[in-house]
Amino acid sequence: MNTLIEFFGKFHPVLVHLPIGFLLLALVFQWLCRKEKYFAILPAVKIAFLLGMISAIVSCLSGWSLSSGGEYDETTLDYHKWMGIGVAAFSVVGYWLADKPSSQIKNILSALTFVLIIITGHLGGTLTHGDGFLTKGLFENAKDSSKSARKTIANVQEAVVYTDLIQPILTDKCGGCHSAKKQKGGLRLDGQDWILKGGKEGKVFVSGNPTGSELYKRVLLDPLEEKHMPPKGKPQLTEQEMNLMHWWIESNAAFTKKVKEVNQPQQILPALLAMQSAAVSMKKPSIPDGEVDKVSASVFESLRNAGIIVLPVAANSNYVSANFVSIKKVTQETVALLKQVNKQLVWLKLDYTELSENSWKVIGQCTNLTRLSIDHTNLTDAQILNLTGLKNLQYLNLVGTKITTQGVQQLKSIATLENLYLGQTSIKGNDFINLQKQFPKTILDSGNYHLENLASDTQLLKAPPIKK
Ligand code: HEC
Repeated sequence: MNTLIEFFGKFHPVLVHLPIGFLLLALVFQWLCRKEKYFAILPAVKIAFLLGMISAIVSCLSGWSLSSGGEYDETTLDYHKWMGIGVAAFSVVGYWLADKPSSQIKNILSALTFVLIIITGHLGGTLTHGDGFLTKGLFENAKDSSKSARKTIANVQEAVVYTDLIQPILTDKCGGCHSAKKQKGGLRLDGQDWILKGGKEGKVFVSGNPTGSELYKRVLLDPLEEKHMPPKGKPQLTEQEMNLMHWWIESNAAFTKKVKEVNQPQQILPALLAMQSAAVSMKKPSIPDGEVDKVSASVFESLRNAGIIVLPVAANSNYVSANFVSIKKVTQETVALLKQVNKQLVWLKLDYTELSENSWKVIGQCTNLTRLSIDHTNLTDAQILNLTGLKNLQYLNLVGTKITTQGVQQLKSIATLENLYLGQTSIKGNDFINLQKQFPKTILDSGNYHLENLASDTQLLKAPPIKK
């Protein structure tokens, strides 16, 4: 019996055209009858209303059985349902009034019936084709219709696994069929509660168990299988997205944990890094005007072999940036390598590393540096003296170091300094205000404000390491 009702429901999208046709015809006939010339079609009005009434009621019933499948947006469905019932009710009244003499009330009811039919039809279209189906293509050329849910991530370690890494994937790749607009399989994937609720066949997310989570299992299936998600022909998940999804479930990150709070196996690091690289490349360090020799291929290779990311800062430029993102302790050999590129280095990212006495000296010899990130290192007031010769430095990040007010004052000799980051140090309150007076041309960042204005800079400088 249930399957029969379900089968009947499938005819709803076809059946609804009948009341639309019959009732519109009835309304047109009724309107024409006001002229004497068309008086003869008066009996046809009653018949048209009768057919409209019957088909409207049948449509309501089939719509009801279709909607019990639960695949539709509930709010829109609710409106559509009541408007549809309204059309049926008005058609009964219309039928009853059809052979009564023309009156103001009859005209108003006719007009209302017409409006109801249009709205119900439009809501029905929205349910099947999705929100905005009518205007799609009309206005969207000017806008970017492929709006991505992804935003750049400044510091992937601070990102919330679900909110910042996973939800954007679900929105991009699953949202078309599993969101407020549509709930294929009775499943929504656009929020924690929906994901936990699951679909028609039950739970889809089992924290800690990727292969026990339908959500991930479906993605893994052979793409030719009917149950594979996203279905054939739709944009598929990339390997990296699949890795992230697997890691999200397996690591028990659930919905609130940050990247730094969960275990990060070696294999997931490239995917995590990739999420962040967009932010890192947002603003290039200033490049000095002078010419320098090209870094030799062998030095390049040695640096890369040491795990340092070395990149030219621009096409046709010999200047380079170096990122120690995967290095925790800077060895003597690495320092020796760094020394070989001390003229070419304009951007150096050493945050979260442990640096030797000698390393600080070598950094001080990289005189073309415009940006230096040494936040969360073992920097102290003693070592900062090594840096006073960096006469091109514009950005310096000292967040989370043991630096004191006296130490920072040593940097007054660097006239080019534009941004100095001092959050999570012992410098606070009045010290900070006094320091700012001594650095009139530099924006000092205490970690509490300025952050919004300097979003891009902060992102650059605080983009963190992935180290285990
Ligand atoms: C083009 C539409 C479409 C897209 C995109 C899509 N799905 Fe589906 N999904 C369906 C349909 C239709 C069903 C119901 C039929 C079935 O169970 O195979 C379904 C069912 C499911 C179910 C089973 C729900 C249940 O309990 O029955 C899961 C889990 C699922 N999809 C996950 C996903 C994931 C994850 C993505 C994105 C990576 C996704 N889907 C993208 C159309 C889609």
